[in-house]
Amino acid sequence: MEATEIVLAAVGEPESLQVRTRRLPALRAGQALVRVEASGVSFAEQQMRRGKYYDQPPFPFVPGYDLVGTVEALGGDTDGDTDGAIAVGRRVAALTKIGGWADRVILDVADLVPVPDGVDAAAAETVVVNGVTAWRMLHGAARVRAGETIVVHGASGGVGSTLVQLARHAGIRVIGTASPAGHDRLRELGAIPVDYKDDVPAHVRRLAPDGVAAVFDHVGGPGIADSWRMLARGGTLVAYGSASTRDKPGSGMLTVFKLVARLAMWNALPNGRHATFFNLWAGKARHLGRFRAALRDDLSQVFALLAGGHITAQVARTFPLTDAAAALRFAEAGGFTGKVVILPGPRA
Ligand SMILES: NC(=O)c1ccc[n+]([C@@H]2O[C@H](COP(=O)([O-])OP(=O)(O)OC[C@H]3O[C@@H](n4cnc5c(N)ncnc54)[C@H](OP(=O)(O)O)[C@@H]3O)[C@@H](O)[C@H]2O)c1
Repeated sequence: MEATEIVLAAVGEPESLQVRTRRLPALRAGQALVRVEASGVSFAEQQMRRGKYYDQPPFPFVPGYDLVGTVEALGGDTDGDTDGAIAVGRRVAALTKIGGWADRVILDVADLVPVPDGVDAAAAETVVVNGVTAWRMLHGAARVRAGETIVVHGASGGVGSTLVQLARHAGIRVIGTASPAGHDRLRELGAIPVDYKDDVPAHVRRLAPDGVAAVFDHVGGPGIADSWRMLARGGTLVAYGSASTRDKPGSGMLTVFKLVARLAMWNALPNGRHATFFNLWAGKARHLGRFRAALRDDLSQVFALLAGGHITAQVARTFPLTDAAAALRFAEAGGFTGKVVILPGPRA
């Protein structure tokens, strides 16, 4: 069995991505062959092609943070998983960090999450990494309650537009920062848009004079201090990225380390506010079984909201797998709402 994949060979421009075909190894027991129907561009790939993602493998590798596909075969005498939810012909999703930009992949059955019937692959793709990240930050890291107000930075982005919807569904008021091109869509999603190039703290003070219950900040950099100051007493700053340093020289790891140190310092202040750095992968190495179970639980909750029409898939644009370079270029230009989805399509 062959797979077509997109390879990031070294630091370079999107156009340096290579298309290759490779023979896949035989399936082992506990593994599944998945025909990929959709993957997507995450901010991580923008950092990886610059060698700036804090946790990227050595080059060369196949990028692709998540995927949705259909199980084509199971290895050994595997019948699927213990509860029968994963079987041949079943549509599934997986969080891969790398490897999703391919038309076929081999994954551990234990890493697959069933996609509800009736949810199409591109729609499901918009809420895999985005959905789990947004769900956990909202209901785990910050524990925001109905009636409270939050600030979501980058509200038009993949994670941001999902977070806005999950929060609105939970009865939470949302102030979302975004470039003006995304403001109409953000209003449709129920958020109050603010241009992130404006004086955001002034807008937030006007809209929430006592401060907000939580701020979700993927930007880092000097603006993180504003995010901290926007909080009401008892509020939580959830930092989860460092988008502002994407084009700056220096180590991605060091950037995150400095940010975490700064949050720890604020956290030690006796002022009733909290700061935390959210990491989707926390605990995976030490507690793999628990990590997989929690991923399946959390993603299933988000899928159920999507299947029930409580949140809607925000597909910014789709690209064929072989146009991954154009997809990455488009994603990097910004100014759209939702997720850039990559569709491998049927094999020739
Ligand atoms: N910690 C974790 O476990 C975890 C997990 C998943 C994602 N993340 C992080 O989440 C963030 C969003 O990821 P994504 O895949 O959703 O990205 P995305 O779809 O590319 O969205 C990024 C958004 O950020 C905005 N943006 C870009 N640069 C900005 C800047 N300097 N200041 C303010 N806003 C800026 C963009 O707005 P415009 O288009 O309007 O410019 C866009 O709406 C990334 O930083 C990523 O690393 C973290």
